[in-house]
Amino acid sequence: MAEVVIVENAAAAGELVAAEIVELIDRRADAVLGLATGSTPLPVYQALRTRLAGRDVSQVRGFALDEYVGLDPAHAESYRSVITRDVVEPLGLDPRRIHVPNGAAETIQHAGDDYETAIEVAGGVDLQILGIGTDGHIGFNEPGSSFASRTRVKTLTEQTREDNARFFDSIDDVPRHCITQGLGTILRARHLVLLAFGEGKAQAVADAVEGPLAAILPGSAIQLHPHATVVVDEAAASRLKLADYYRYTFANKPAWQGI
Ligand code: PGA
Repeated sequence: MAEVVIVENAAAAGELVAAEIVELIDRRADAVLGLATGSTPLPVYQALRTRLAGRDVSQVRGFALDEYVGLDPAHAESYRSVITRDVVEPLGLDPRRIHVPNGAAETIQHAGDDYETAIEVAGGVDLQILGIGTDGHIGFNEPGSSFASRTRVKTLTEQTREDNARFFDSIDDVPRHCITQGLGTILRARHLVLLAFGEGKAQAVADAVEGPLAAILPGSAIQLHPHATVVVDEAAASRLKLADYYRYTFANKPAWQGI
């Protein structure tokens, strides 16, 4: 099962995950990070900014999970722009080493395979940061996604479009299609770190960690991974049946194990 770590707040989650990433980069200067967009990973990037200051991060590589289809990469809400603004620039990463799926409509037919190849050539993702949607999606793998899926085009649910409308002038501007790493792609990363905060994510977290393995609950795919860590605040943990056990386990964990 996934290791569940219940923390006091999002800032504490950010520090915990950032510490693990710094350790990874110390071990491997050209570590491959799996980057997520959305509000959830921001505390991780904020903590990394302080922790990585003064370190050489010029070799670090990264792969984003997903991108909108047909949105100009220069648009402020394209995931290329978001990753540049939230991750590449503040952390001082080399933009040439940070990949985002290509959502251009003209090349979309082979963009998924191209991305899979790029991840493979890089030797795979070392640590994949994940958020989770209120509908249980990870990446943009909406309910119904195959656990074996690869990077491909998906149709966004209306729920996801509504959730993301806050970033656009109106919901009509939110694209209907995206290109996303598949659940199978995500499961090949060597360490999954899923974060979630707030009551609104409580059901999705419970389904992912303790629910049945089911395509209707894409987050449940993490149960198939040998090294998955779920970092949540009390509100997002509020529907976990085994919350006390997770607290006890983490409190008694040998320090050398990390997360
Ligand atoms: P959020 O999105 O971090 O903005 O809540 C999570 C997701 O949709 O995966």
